[in-house]
Amino acid sequence: MTSESPAALAATDAAAIPATELETKLTSPPATVRPRLIIAITGATGAVYGVRLLQFLRAHGLAETHVLISEAGLLSLHQELGMKRRELDALADASYALRDVGASLASGSFQSHGMVVAPCSMKTLAAIAHGLSDNLITRAADVVLKERRRLVLMVREAPLNLAHLRNMTAVTEMGGIIFPPVPAFYQHPQNIDQMIDHTLGRVLDLFGLDNTLAPRWDGMGHSA
Ligand SMILES: Cc1cc2nc3c(=O)[nH]c(=O)nc-3n(C[C@H](O)[C@H](O)[C@H](O)COP(=O)(O)O)c2cc1C
Repeated sequence: MTSESPAALAATDAAAIPATELETKLTSPPATVRPRLIIAITGATGAVYGVRLLQFLRAHGLAETHVLISEAGLLSLHQELGMKRRELDALADASYALRDVGASLASGSFQSHGMVVAPCSMKTLAAIAHGLSDNLITRAADVVLKERRRLVLMVREAPLNLAHLRNMTAVTEMGGIIFPPVPAFYQHPQNIDQMIDHTLGRVLDLFGLDNTLAPRWDGMGHSA
């Protein structure tokens, strides 16, 4: 046991480390630390995007996942996939109640590589665009933006009104990425799963997470 305070011990440690090494220790997570991602599901159609993302990250141990779901998200989770909250929670490393705005995720001191809202409703988009941190999803997104971390919103609505478009612009201006789950056809997907995986592969690319969710396009080759 030592009688020194944690602050005094930290100061001693810092003094013992040369400046450049200290800088590295202060800014870089250890190479062994898994990326930490916050994944939120809201009440737009397409709960499968959030669920599949969690399943893939878990199966491949690619990231430590923290899951959130809105009340409307829970409805679509059940309506579209027949899933219950506890089944969703089982796919993540940690889960949180929507109203728990005192949770760790509500603070910038909770370090993460960023957040994906998959899918993102126009309501949640609007709240994020206007800094309205009225629940843990919108607060966590607000924190990710203020800490200049990566925020990807898989917004889903059609057609779009001017409020939707303006809110997407506002989030983009703040550094967020608007990523509508729009399927691509150029690699001839054979089923819906392949379409979903293709989109999610591109989302993971935005976090620098190498993945095999979709084949990489290597040009037209001789098929044109
Ligand atoms: C079956 C169903 C599908 C919906 N699909 C969408 C959608 O694609 N996009 C959207 O913005 N809202 C959609 N909504 C409406 C949202 O669920 C609603 O605006 C809700 O208040 C969003 O709350 P949340 O952002 O807290 O999840 C849908 C609602 C239902 C019942």
